Amino acid sequence: MRLTILGGGGFRVPLVYGALLADHAEGRVTRVVLHDVDAGRLRAIARVLAEQAADVPDAPEVTTTTDLDEALRGADFVFSAIRVGGLEGRAHDERVALAEGVLGQETVGAGGIAYGLRTVPVAVDIARRVARLAPDAWVINFTNPAGLVTEAMSRHLGDRVIGICDSPVGLGRRIARVLGARPQEAWIDYVGLNHLGWVRGLRVAGRDQLPRLLGDSALLGSFEEGRLFGADWLRSLGAVPNEYLHYYYFNREAVRAYRQARRTRGAFLRDQQESFYAGTGDPDVSALDLWDRTRAEREATYMSENREAAGAGEREADDLSGGYEKVALALMRAIARDERTTLILNVRNGSTLSPLDAEAVIEVPCLVDAGGAHPVSVDPLPDHATGLVCAVKAVEREVLEAARSGSRATAVKAFALHPLVDSVSVARRLVDGYTAVHPGLAYLG
Ligand code: G6P
Ligand code: MN
Repeated sequence: MRLTILGGGGFRVPLVYGALLADHAEGRVTRVVLHDVDAGRLRAIARVLAEQAADVPDAPEVTTTTDLDEALRGADFVFSAIRVGGLEGRAHDERVALAEGVLGQETVGAGGIAYGLRTVPVAVDIARRVARLAPDAWVINFTNPAGLVTEAMSRHLGDRVIGICDSPVGLGRRIARVLGARPQEAWIDYVGLNHLGWVRGLRVAGRDQLPRLLGDSALLGSFEEGRLFGADWLRSLGAVPNEYLHYYYFNREAVRAYRQARRTRGAFLRDQQESFYAGTGDPDVSALDLWDRTRAEREATYMSENREAAGAGEREADDLSGGYEKVALALMRAIARDERTTLILNVRNGSTLSPLDAEAVIEVPCLVDAGGAHPVSVDPLPDHATGLVCAVKAVEREVLEAARSGSRATAVKAFALHPLVDSVSVARRLVDGYTAVHPGLAYLG
């Protein structure tokens, strides 16, 4: 079984490889091809993986290449985990929006639109090449904004591309824990778009336990989303939103906190990773130790750099590293070995959420088997949630259209229609600001 990782020089690749090393079952991945546009980053990550594999006799063989077509040929699975424009690009996405007084964040609001506009053309090129060179391969997309990018790729790959995110599983796990339930035994009723979904129920042995949580202030105060959104608001909603909905429900506070921060999350990570990649050039240093220290620091700052002000508190140590590599591996296993399982994934809607068309990629529990991921039927969303989902999907469609046509007016429309951008004039200035700093947006003229 051959797995190709695009963005193979990326910082999180050792997490994926670590998960592969722990898999000894029949049909496991035996060959990993790392592709990246940056040969230096590939060398650094290859050093980390070699150290990880040192004491593992059946470790998957690793090769690296900067030739995309070579990487894709013969792949059974393709993980797409690229970051177009790098962390410097992310820092620009965040900063330009904050300078305009609107949310500057990796995937939500103006920052997410800028990231999408940069990423979609590259993702579409990858999808076209996969369709040509590895038509039977399954593509697992981690590249953010994951829902939008998965939809862009699905126009060329249909249901052979599946998007993943660790946040719904993490949320389900935290809710299950406070309720004293075993996460594996709980059915999580979650639906929406990526980074825009709600847990409406959590059933254990057929009984919904969420009402017990919503009725108990002490329980609500004892976990992250309970503190982040507050007991009263969660009761009003009758659901627990994905942490990213904090940017909608408490937008003003989030923007204020981010504007006051010394630097954005993207700028912090850019600086941190710069020193990691530079450090791996020293042959006397263990690349794995350096990676591990950097990862620990990244995780320790996940909440504190950004959301301390919101009162969510720190994320518990054993709840960090949300486990996106575990989701990816579980998905790959279920498909490769036809082991039926249920995972919350980003797939085409079909008839799941009736206000959206069949092609719209949504995030929803899916049954996975050798035939791929099949969304389960879910209860409809309440009107307020449908409103947000439809508004953000409409924005995503404008992003896809701007990327296809290169139209600047369409890019302005994408920003202007977003619920977190409060003026068409701001949208115009955002397009000017982003095109000035991002070489990847030159196509907008
Ligand atoms: C979660 C989200 C990812 C996002 C990441 C950001 O894992 O699901 O989509 O990229 O957080 O974390 P970072 O440490 O890069 O700020
Ligand atoms: Mn995510």
